[in-house]
Amino acid sequence: MREGNAPLIRREDYVAPAFWIRTVDISFDLDPAKTLVISKMKVERNTAVPHGPLRLHGEELQLLRVLINGESVSFRQEGHELVIEAAPDADFTLEVRNTCAPEKNTALSGLYTSGGSFFTQCEAEGFRRITYFLDRPDVMAVYTVTLRADKTKYPVLLSNGNLADSGELDATRHFAVWHDPFPKPSYLFALVAGDLVAREQRITTRAGRDHLLQVFVRRGDLEKTEHAMNSLVASIVWDEARFKLPLDLERFMIVGVSDFNMGAMENKGLNIFNTSALLASPATATDADFARIEAIVAHEYFHNWTGNRVTCRDWFQLSLKEGLTVFRDQEFSMDMAAAPSARAVCRIQDVRQLRAMQFPEDSGAMAHPVRPDSYVEINNFYTATVYDKGSEVVRMYQTLVGRAGFEAGMKLYFERHDGQAVTCDDFAQAIADANPGSALATRLEAFKRWYSQAGTPHLKARGTYDATAQTYTLTLSQTNPPSPGQDSKLAQVIPVAMGLLSHEGQVLPLQLQGETEPAGTDRVLVLDQSAQSFVFVNVTADPVPSLLRGFSAPVLLDDGLTDAELLVLLKHDTDAFNRWEAGQRLSLNRILAAVRSGKPLVLDGAYIEAMRSLLRHPQLDSAFKELALTLPGEAYIAEQLEVIDPQAIHAAVDAAQNQLAHALRDDWVAAFEGNQVSGGYQPDPVQSGKRSLANLALAMLVLDAKRSGDTVWPGRAYQRFKDAGNMTDRLGALSALVNAHAELAEPALARFHQQFKDEALVVDKWFALQGRAAERDGKTFARVRQLLQHPDFSLKNPNRARSLIFSLCMFNPAAFHRTDAAGYVFWADQLLALDAINPQIAGRLARVMDRWTKLAEPYRSAAREAIVRVAAKAELSSDVREIIERALA
Ligand code: PHE
Ligand code: ZN
Repeated sequence: MREGNAPLIRREDYVAPAFWIRTVDISFDLDPAKTLVISKMKVERNTAVPHGPLRLHGEELQLLRVLINGESVSFRQEGHELVIEAAPDADFTLEVRNTCAPEKNTALSGLYTSGGSFFTQCEAEGFRRITYFLDRPDVMAVYTVTLRADKTKYPVLLSNGNLADSGELDATRHFAVWHDPFPKPSYLFALVAGDLVAREQRITTRAGRDHLLQVFVRRGDLEKTEHAMNSLVASIVWDEARFKLPLDLERFMIVGVSDFNMGAMENKGLNIFNTSALLASPATATDADFARIEAIVAHEYFHNWTGNRVTCRDWFQLSLKEGLTVFRDQEFSMDMAAAPSARAVCRIQDVRQLRAMQFPEDSGAMAHPVRPDSYVEINNFYTATVYDKGSEVVRMYQTLVGRAGFEAGMKLYFERHDGQAVTCDDFAQAIADANPGSALATRLEAFKRWYSQAGTPHLKARGTYDATAQTYTLTLSQTNPPSPGQDSKLAQVIPVAMGLLSHEGQVLPLQLQGETEPAGTDRVLVLDQSAQSFVFVNVTADPVPSLLRGFSAPVLLDDGLTDAELLVLLKHDTDAFNRWEAGQRLSLNRILAAVRSGKPLVLDGAYIEAMRSLLRHPQLDSAFKELALTLPGEAYIAEQLEVIDPQAIHAAVDAAQNQLAHALRDDWVAAFEGNQVSGGYQPDPVQSGKRSLANLALAMLVLDAKRSGDTVWPGRAYQRFKDAGNMTDRLGALSALVNAHAELAEPALARFHQQFKDEALVVDKWFALQGRAAERDGKTFARVRQLLQHPDFSLKNPNRARSLIFSLCMFNPAAFHRTDAAGYVFWADQLLALDAINPQIAGRLARVMDRWTKLAEPYRSAAREAIVRVAAKAELSSDVREIIERALA
């Protein structure tokens, strides 16, 4: 492990490498205890930088020998670097021999074993745990890989690119040689060796080329790969159609592994996936799992262009590939959803995720720009900011230059940079240059503040109507509160998609002062100053503004709208996102008022009637109704408050939930009955929308039964749980029972475990459900502590660790933040235990305390004590050390 005294790395210190590695011929004698690695490289001095020694990265390796041009050469080891002073000026060959110990690699970075097979994970800096190398993304080489292994234990031998040769070595061992024609950085290297089987499909793309697609998994999992294969085919078709980007390899492989730190990895031609992001059957996966798998398969496939063909110059540019690729997978999911209402549902879900994860990050101790300025451990910067805010930044380009303009920008980006390692600036320049004179090109430098300034801008909007002049003046202003290391900020470029409605709900034409005629009813205003006014003329009625339609910028909006105005938008807005948002705002206002006043929440009749008419609405989609009737998340509510009292927030949400359950009881019954799906299971938007609303209705009915003592609905939930034909309905019914603390929850949980004990991904759900269960009298917390002792629990498997520990600490604020501080003690204990096994996962868990300074007492002091206790440990990884030090800074 990299110890916690690693140095701070700064973006401004970037220098090109002193050497280039052009080709790598690498062989592996695979053995779990000790794998021999022989790497032969063609190396060239980079004459563009000052003359210096060759410094190779290497960690946790046993070095056997180093040869230059076939001769031994003197070297020294400095920390994690191998330094060769006497490297020649002319091109040379470098040969390194070393061993590594895959079965001891619990960090799951580099070469490791899982379930008796070999896998690699090299992003960001895992290749240096395999062999000594210039392990940085701007060093791109052509790889030829030879794998040698026992043929019965490891019948399948895979690496990047195309199979060049294979055969027997002797009675027990065999080999395979793979060649990848595309130069790539070391982080995209991969190998897999194991007893796996593949689903295969051959396709011919538009360009007329034939390709072999393969999804490799353990023997029993083959039936669960159909959805992933379909998603892969759909992704290939979509990228060719939308961006004219074809598949560039003869063979494209995906491999599933059950021990994996993240969702999946885009290794060239050999994507490696967490099984949780790959395997699905109706019996074991929920609708949400199906959707997530489709998105992740697409995401990794899209990286082949945005990440692999054009990669990052350095890790500060991570969002260049991640923000762009998240944007692409979000667009893909929307196009797959097809119907306008289903597209809006996708957008709402993405924004909910951003608000729940990225907004808190942006106002906490770890706040950082989309393109960070410094880091200690790059693994700590695979964040919601780099991914999800990064995607919002890309979306703003598209909003500013239009869809066709954005496609032209992408085309220019690939024309200029295919085969290169580049920066976020290069991307911005390409989009702007392809759209001269556009709202982007004329403000490019200011727009790029989205990359350099951390924090969520606050956008304030106020309008005044002049009935005699028939003008409406909309004043927009922005502020961005300080972030660590950034005390004051400059105005950002904020595209505000908007429209105006009359109080009767009529759409009004939009004509700005100086324009000769109205330009439609939906347009984008661009705020690029700290304050600006926009004057609309010929406005015939006092309007209700609908601002930030489709969530056109990642900001916190204060539009000052009254309940009456929000109700107009809720009923009539033509923008489905803002319609949903109006409902959320009505809920949020009530919850915040209760939390701020300290008085119990009592929902008013107007609100309840608005929710009732939503639920009963004859035209709205079930999926939309479910989103609209789900209260804002506790993390997002906390974002609106100066001081966070997690118990007060939870109490208000809980009260709102119970009152909605009770007041709309008959409507929930109708919603449940009216949203039963008949026919075979399909994870499509229509079916999944019905299931989600039926499950919400059932949860409300079981909750209300708890209050009234009724036993009918818990009984029906149990029946549905038992008889369900798919995991979505089964888990929905189970969680209705568990969250309401119904008596039938216990037998249901026991039965569920018994039924699925051999399905690891379902056992994860079983743990997660209990870790996230609504807290009542400390029962959930006590249960989580008990579950740590369960024979199926393990800290070593990241999915399992996440399912229990992260569920409690990250997603269950009411169970975690306890007045007796036991939640924080639990956190510190588990964090230290995890850090000794897997620093990357520990680094994520450490993030739970990011916002401790905003907590109310007694939570604040107790949280600090727990953080200080962790900080006092000498043996922390650099991952956890960086997070903890930032929290205490
Ligand atoms: N690059 C991967 C993705 O987003 C994520 C990842 C990062 C996976 C680091 C493993 C390690 O697609
Ligand atoms: Zn990615």
